[in-house]
Amino acid sequence: MSGPPRNGDTTDLRLGVLGFGLRGALARTAHRPGHGARVTVVADPDPARRDDATARIPGVRTVDDPRKVIDAPDVDAVLVLTPDHTHADLACAALRAGKPVFVEKPLDITVERCDRILRTARETGTRLYVGHNMRHMPVVRLMRDIVARGEIGEVRTVWVRHFVGYGGDWYFKDWHSERRYTTGLLLQKGAHDIDVVHWLTGGYTRQVQAFGATRTAGPPASPRPPTGTRRTATGRRTASGHSTR
Ligand SMILES: NC(=O)c1ccc[n+]([C@@H]2O[C@H](COP(=O)([O-])OP(=O)(O)OC[C@H]3O[C@@H](n4cnc5c(N)ncnc54)[C@H](O)[C@@H]3O)[C@@H](O)[C@H]2O)c1
Repeated sequence: MSGPPRNGDTTDLRLGVLGFGLRGALARTAHRPGHGARVTVVADPDPARRDDATARIPGVRTVDDPRKVIDAPDVDAVLVLTPDHTHADLACAALRAGKPVFVEKPLDITVERCDRILRTARETGTRLYVGHNMRHMPVVRLMRDIVARGEIGEVRTVWVRHFVGYGGDWYFKDWHSERRYTTGLLLQKGAHDIDVVHWLTGGYTRQVQAFGATRTAGPPASPRPPTGTRRTATGRRTASGHSTR
């Protein structure tokens, strides 16, 4: 950041948003003009999502190119709310521009790309926050307090059951169902649980054993690609912010 935000007569942090899909809700929550933060620009390749942003965030500017958000002089920090496989490229571009970044979980879809984000944040000295929002949930905070107070002694086992109450379509019939866009459910959705287990126990996983099967949803019939993805003449898909190689 080049200095304190200048925003007329307020000191609101001016937020640029990349991606206005489901997690656009986060941008709407963060938009509190006169109370610390406001969203000034939203980028999304999908015109319908841009229209949605315009309707929901009065006065916001919308663009199709994320670079226009990252480079905008009226953006102090960037929220990366795009599909998983786009995170490293977008987050690193913003970090290199000296803009603090909030990036949704999971960081990206390979260890190498995740490491690139962490390395870029370190090298540029720019702030990075990963959206493990469950750490802020009252129930999780309470559990952590109970553990920290020693009320249950040493934690030896943590058992997690993660229920998804809205059916499998969400994960098996859009970009979540294809490896090129995401990891499996364990690291995509379960990233929250793994983070909370680490957070509660103050430790990190050293060894993993797993088994499982796809029982209820079956193979995706015709998965919906991420918005902003188009078919090329050869039938391959390309997505903005991501190399198809
Ligand atoms: N923390 C949580 O609880 C939580 C919950 C849901 C999703 N997520 C994460 O949030 C991210 C977004 O998920 P979603 O469900 O909102 O996805 P979504 O598909 O609903 O929305 C993604 C949006 O990003 C846009 N987009 C794609 N490429 C872009 C680019 N290069 N630049 C700008 N915009 C681009 C798409 O057009 C789309 O509107 C994912 O990484 C997901 O894992 C986190």
